[in-house]
Amino acid sequence: MKQILALLIIFTSLLCAVAQNNSVRIMYGPYLQNIDTNEATITWVTDTPSVGWIELAHDGNDSFYNYERQRYFDTTDGIKNISTIHSVTIKGLSSNTTYRYRTYAQAVVSHEGNRVMYGDYAATNVYSQEPLRFTTLCHEAEQVSFAVINDIHGDNNRMSNLIAQCDLSATDLFIFNGDMASMYNSEEQIFGDFVSTAVSTFAGETPFYYTRGNHETRGSYAHKFHDYFSTGSSSLYYTFRQGPVLFVILDSGEDKADSDIEYYGLVEYDNYRTRQAEWLEGVINSEAYRNAPLKVVVSHIPPMGDWHGNNEVKNKFVEVLRQAAPDIMLCAHEHELIYSESNSNTPFPILINAHNTIVKVKATQSNMQIDVVDEKGKTIATYNYSK
Ligand SMILES: [Fe+2]
Repeated sequence: MKQILALLIIFTSLLCAVAQNNSVRIMYGPYLQNIDTNEATITWVTDTPSVGWIELAHDGNDSFYNYERQRYFDTTDGIKNISTIHSVTIKGLSSNTTYRYRTYAQAVVSHEGNRVMYGDYAATNVYSQEPLRFTTLCHEAEQVSFAVINDIHGDNNRMSNLIAQCDLSATDLFIFNGDMASMYNSEEQIFGDFVSTAVSTFAGETPFYYTRGNHETRGSYAHKFHDYFSTGSSSLYYTFRQGPVLFVILDSGEDKADSDIEYYGLVEYDNYRTRQAEWLEGVINSEAYRNAPLKVVVSHIPPMGDWHGNNEVKNKFVEVLRQAAPDIMLCAHEHELIYSESNSNTPFPILINAHNTIVKVKATQSNMQIDVVDEKGKTIATYNYSK
């Protein structure tokens, strides 16, 4: 009798295990990355290895179920990725156009030789709620409205309070200017520290563009940054334009010398910043830069202060920017609000946002209005630039 009972328990456990392996759940996301004029990247994470894809539909009042929507798979070199992290870049989109989308995953139970056993599906809801939507960028747009937060260090409560200061329907994009987490140690920690808050408030429909801070360079998951966050290029410094503003996103690296004990011999940022300065030289000499009515440079570490990282930003990046001054440089890192007027050394203003304030910007072809707002909605500072 005892043997039969033991066999029954083993059999039931095996059934449960098989059932568990068949299931799949979207754990994190979806969230938008690298929205541009003709492409968009959508990222999401499942709890079990799966294949993933996006169904895309034009905006409209027709049901998402009207007909089979075009599918875009998560692939590498033509092979569908069997992974828990899915990222699909859809190209060939039209500028200034709204799309609806549904995120899909199908569990992969086993993959032996060329035989693949599939399990359950998971998808975002398009039945009892509106499908998620995004709108591509537009260089010709008359204006852009964006918000910047930084140095959140995993404080979701503060992050929620700051996001709550924005009219999300009137905010084109967010910039996360670094140190959103204090370290990158695991997927659970990265999402728990800030990404899930972004997803639950806006990131499925409004993109955030990420500027790496020095704290994102730390921890055993730091080298996985690209797996979760797409810049639209192979590097973490990049540009994009919405309306009148060309955004130049820099990656200022760490704040101390590369040999510092804190980095355990793992980093090489001096050479990285030198190569980046060469890239920046190309940016300021490009037609895209010259033709943009307004230029906003974003760097986590500011060019003020006397730590090694600050000096590097000043000596390598500002040195280049001096030749074609942007309209403003937005920085972070210092956990206090600091503003520096344009001067002979740095011929453009620098605004360092604090850890507990949000920078809200409205820019037209000839004007940029910047409000710095605290968690309770109080406007701490206002700057206005007219051209
Ligand atoms: Fe920092």
